[in-house]
Amino acid sequence: MKKILITGGAGFIGSHVVRLFVNNYPDTQIYNLDVLTYAGNLENLKDIEAKPNYTFLKADITDEDLITKLFVEYQFDGVVHLAAESHVDRSIADPLAFIKTNILGTVNLLNAARSIWKDNMDDKRFYHISTDEVYGSLGETGLFIETTSYDPRSPYSSSKASSDHLVRAYYHTYGLPVVISNCSNNYGPNQFPEKLIPLAINNIKNNKPIPIYGKGENIRDWLYVIDHAVAIDLIYREGKLGETYNIGGINEWTNIDLIHKLCEVMDDKLDREKGESAKLITYVKDRAGHDMRYAIDSSKLMNELGWEPSLQFEEGIVKTVDWYLANEEWNNNILSGDYEKYYKEQYEKR
Ligand code: NAD
Ligand code: TYD
Repeated sequence: MKKILITGGAGFIGSHVVRLFVNNYPDTQIYNLDVLTYAGNLENLKDIEAKPNYTFLKADITDEDLITKLFVEYQFDGVVHLAAESHVDRSIADPLAFIKTNILGTVNLLNAARSIWKDNMDDKRFYHISTDEVYGSLGETGLFIETTSYDPRSPYSSSKASSDHLVRAYYHTYGLPVVISNCSNNYGPNQFPEKLIPLAINNIKNNKPIPIYGKGENIRDWLYVIDHAVAIDLIYREGKLGETYNIGGINEWTNIDLIHKLCEVMDDKLDREKGESAKLITYVKDRAGHDMRYAIDSSKLMNELGWEPSLQFEEGIVKTVDWYLANEEWNNNILSGDYEKYYKEQYEKR
């Protein structure tokens, strides 16, 4: 039986990828390795945890000895690496945590894969999941393509850029069979409510201010998380070794327009008068070094592998709101003391 290791599978995107792989490949054993930081939540995987081809491994990718031991013990055939510290605001407050997990953790996985695959790399694959933020910030026009020069500007994006470079270095230096993808902002069910969309949904629901950084003119390209998971599955199977694929939603929004759209949906779902939720919009101090615009050109992935996003944003945002409103318990379990503390520190001083 083939064995695929997915790291960070208890997080937002990782849980959708684990579910897809467990369901799509009943004859492959899927190992979800996650240390369960504040962002990792096994509740995300309740529906598949009893499947015979699913195994959870609690481990920290920064623990070199444990990672080496697990690779020797399980002899994985492939790795899909998503585990990371993923929130820009937290990286501004504590860069070192990002350096440890995103850079050192990735190197531990690369070394462990290299050591068990060194005599035979046939049919092996190390797939590194990255972000469009490594390319830096765009002006009003242009799109990121796979050959755009790296220009990361936050501790988060710098740590992801470093890990991308290391993954490529292992391909060129050691012949490790790698593939990389860089995706735009994801949204959808199970996203931790520190990120813009779920944070705004919760605040609207609870009649709390919706914090908009700066003037709300920054632009992001939003992709529904399941479309990202489908792209990951495709690239894992069919992506060319040593290549990079950009993944995006062809769906650019300024933050303020996106929040207005979300407020409309929330008014409708909560039976509020039109315009009521938008009254909660509150402009706050901008994020330090706030990247102005991200936008992805996914034509390589679309033309070479035949991927395309399946959902329009108008549909995806309604599905997302429905999920958060139907999963209050999930939300309440997450909004623990730690998150309250984080929220106070981030927003009370703004
Ligand atoms: P997330 O923060 O929701 O989940 C990260 C997961 O990694 C959590 O389950 C956490 O417990 C785990 N983890 C963190 N540190 C770990 C460690 N030291 N050892 C083992 N597990 C650890 O993140 P996400 O939004 O799902 O992002 C997943 C990946 O996709 C990341 O690599 C991120 O850079 C990338 N990405 C995210 C987006 C996005 O919009 N969220 C867009 C493009 C790329
Ligand atoms: P976020 O969801 O943190 O993703 P990223 O920073 O990785 O793009 O933020 C998306 C956009 O929303 C970004 O431009 C920052 C902005 N933002 C706010 O205006 N207010 C908030 O409270 C948050 C969390 C983000």
